Amino acid sequence: MRRIVIWITAMVMLGAYIAGMAKLVKADRVAWLQGPSGHCEEVPQGNSAPWRVVLLGAPGVGKGTQAALLAEQMGACHLSTGDVFRHADGRPECEQSVAMQEAMEFMRRGELVPDATVWEMVRERKACLHCRGGFILDGFPRTLAQAESLQTLLVREGLALTAVVNYEMPEAEIVARLGGRRTCEACKAVYHVTERPAKVDGQCDKCGGKLVLREDDRPEAIKVRLEAYERSTAPLISYYQKMGLLLRVPATGSAEEICVRTIVDLKGRRLKGFAEKLWAAAENRRDT
Ligand code: AP5
Repeated sequence: MRRIVIWITAMVMLGAYIAGMAKLVKADRVAWLQGPSGHCEEVPQGNSAPWRVVLLGAPGVGKGTQAALLAEQMGACHLSTGDVFRHADGRPECEQSVAMQEAMEFMRRGELVPDATVWEMVRERKACLHCRGGFILDGFPRTLAQAESLQTLLVREGLALTAVVNYEMPEAEIVARLGGRRTCEACKAVYHVTERPAKVDGQCDKCGGKLVLREDDRPEAIKVRLEAYERSTAPLISYYQKMGLLLRVPATGSAEEICVRTIVDLKGRRLKGFAEKLWAAAENRRDT
């Protein structure tokens, strides 16, 4: 009986979700990339239960690619801390704070930017966490200190994470993905020279911008980044597992396959949660 109730609830919720998908608007991320001075013109309309998701996984596993696809499919905003640093990197030096210039030095070497700098940057963009479409955090949090600060902020703001997705893949494949990555200088869209090539060599399909090799995709920086991941970010897997939020998703196959896999797992998790709450409420009513 319990299974039937869960299944029926899942189907009803899925129908409502699919109906809501038609209204999705892609966020332009201006407020996130520019900080408090920027305002988004394209704001997702949102739905009654926006997705609030964190993506974990080693550098190069495909978080940015998935975040962009998921944002399109779910109408959530793609909030990448790496993109904020790269966006600042492209601005004239006189517009950059000392902390931001230092952050970019850490990034070029493949090291993590100090927690205090990252946290200040996220904190001043906290309005983005209230985005009506929800959010997909990519590259943040990356240390236990960042995860704890985020959790405190979310509680204070009355928000809760839907899930934390951990993308998993063997290290050799990760290195191959990073070596072949090309990124648009202008809109930050991500390509791969063989796996996800642009239609015109060296030119972004979306905005015509120039495709470049990221400075931290040099072999020596890749090594430092993978070590930093193992040391500082991998412990977040058990942190979120203990909170009951972790979803493990294999990051092999095409980007589109991985995206579908992620959405199915996310929806399954949410629908199971809704159904269990309904079941518990029904049980309570019967007992009283
Ligand atoms: P960040 O930008 O977050 O980089 P990262 O975590 O190192 O991750 P990457 O962007 O390298 O990889 P990804 O997993 O997004 O993979 P992608 O989708 O591009 O951070 C950069 C730096 O900023 C950090 O090193 C640090 O210095 C600093 N920083 C940022 N946040 C910080 C924080 N919170 N704390 C401290 N410091 C911070 O895919 C990789 C390639 O594979 C692409 O070419 C793509 O086209 C290809 N690809 C993707 N999916 C597939 C697929 N399924 N099949 C084949 N190819 C694929």
